[in-house]
Amino acid sequence: MDAKKLAGEKAIEFVKNDMIVGLGTGSTVYWAILKIGGLVKQGLRIKGVPTSIQTEQLANELGIPLVGLSSINQIDLTIDGADEANEEFELIKGGGGALLREKMVASISKRMVVVMDETKYVPNLGKFPLPVEITQFGWEMTRRQISALGCEPALRLKDNIPFITDNGNYILDCHFGEILDANKLNQTLNMIPGVVENGLFVNMADTMVIGNRNGHVDIF
Ligand code: 5RP
Repeated sequence: MDAKKLAGEKAIEFVKNDMIVGLGTGSTVYWAILKIGGLVKQGLRIKGVPTSIQTEQLANELGIPLVGLSSINQIDLTIDGADEANEEFELIKGGGGALLREKMVASISKRMVVVMDETKYVPNLGKFPLPVEITQFGWEMTRRQISALGCEPALRLKDNIPFITDNGNYILDCHFGEILDANKLNQTLNMIPGVVENGLFVNMADTMVIGNRNGHVDIF
C-alpha cells in the first residue's frame, strides 16, 4: 500500500465547490492535486493557489485554474504535506524547499489539511533537519548566527552546487535535535537578519490525514 497516495487522495473529501484551494508541494499532496484535476474535469469549480513552480506546472498540466496571492486575501482550504508532525499539530516542512510559499499560503488559509504517511507522525520534532531559507547575500554570517543557537546548519546542495529556492534563496538544513519549544525557535530564527523563513509551522495545521502501510487512513 502506498501510504502517501492513500493520505493524499483521502484529503480530497475536504474540497468543495467554489473553494479557493492552496495546493502544497511534494510527493504526498501530488496525489491530492491529481484527484483535484480529475474533479475539475468533471465540472468542480475551484481555484488553486500553488506553493511552488513545480506545483504550478502540475496544476497547469491538469487544467486546474490558478489564482495568485496578489488578488486574494483568504484561502478556504490548503492541502499540503509535511516532513514531521507532532500531536500538537506542529510541523517541520521544507524538505522540498518550498517552505516560504507554503507558509505564506498556509497563513491565510481558513483550514490547513496536512497529508503524510505514518512515519512522519513523531512524539517530538527534530529528527528531520529543520530547513531554513536564507538570503544568498551574507549567507555564511547567517549560518554562524544560526549555529550559535546550538545546531550544525548544512547548506543544501543539488548536483554539488547550492540548491536555489523558487525565490532565489539558499536553504540551510539545521540539526537542532529534539525541538521542544517550536514556537520559540520559530520566532528566534525569524529574528535573525538574513533568515527569510523557517520550516516550523506552529498554529497552522488544523487537520492531519495520515496514511498507513496497512491501508488504513487516520484523520485527526
Ligand atoms: C516541501 C514540503 C513537503 O510538503 C514535505 O517535504 C513533504 O514532502 P513529501 O510529501 O514529498 O514527503 O514541505 O517544501
